[in-house]
Amino acid sequence: MLIQNNTHAHSIIQATPEQVALAARNWFVSIAIMSILQRDRCIVALSGGSTPKRLYQLLAELPEGLIDWSKVHLFWGDERNVPSDHVDSNFRMVREALIDRIIGPKPVVHAVPTDGRTPAEAAINYERTMRQLAGSSPFIFDIVLLGLGDDAHTASLFPETTALKVLNRWVVENEVPKLSTHRITLTAPILNASRNTAFLICGASKQWALGKIHSAERNSNLYPAQLVRPLGDLWWFMDEAASEATYVE
Ligand code: 6PG
Repeated sequence: MLIQNNTHAHSIIQATPEQVALAARNWFVSIAIMSILQRDRCIVALSGGSTPKRLYQLLAELPEGLIDWSKVHLFWGDERNVPSDHVDSNFRMVREALIDRIIGPKPVVHAVPTDGRTPAEAAINYERTMRQLAGSSPFIFDIVLLGLGDDAHTASLFPETTALKVLNRWVVENEVPKLSTHRITLTAPILNASRNTAFLICGASKQWALGKIHSAERNSNLYPAQLVRPLGDLWWFMDEAASEATYVE
């Protein structure tokens, strides 16, 4: 499937998920190094889910010092309403795959503070942390990593949920009836405040969602990933299994 490449959108299709992770690793490294050279820091929003785990493992295995991790601020695009040591925690997944395995100086970790807080409290607290880091400057991510759900959700912006329409906050709690749970998620406006955004999408189960979000049917309430229209470049890292969707513009 060819996604319309325009000046800001690029699709990278690899044969296997491992090759997708390797391509995304090289992309991440080049942007992180450039961000640190230009702004002495790199602000990242990490994706949860299973697809990016291999990328995080590969990043942990980079030669020591290739990325000055002490200049990298790690945020999460969303988090589940679970303690930080819970098996479903996106923070725990990243801690195990990346943070604990980095040799040398560690990144500056900004986990969503779910422990002992309601989703609403965690969201307010997290936004405060982001605003404190931004200070008087605009908050712009250097890197945003996103996954794509089979239902075309991204982060925890699920179809027909209230977070999709929030424009005046950066982080909100979001009730997800289909999962019978609440999530904490960054909203579309802050996710789009990004110099470099990448979707990592693998597996045939993503074909329907990919087809929908790139179809002429513009309906972000049903296909929330359509809300992702970042300031900077948007990259689609996909394997062949996911990218075989056909769609008509
Ligand atoms: C999460 C993610 C979510 C994920 C998609 C795809 O917390 O699970 O933020 O948006 O990226 O559901 O998940 P997979 O990579 O596991 O297919």
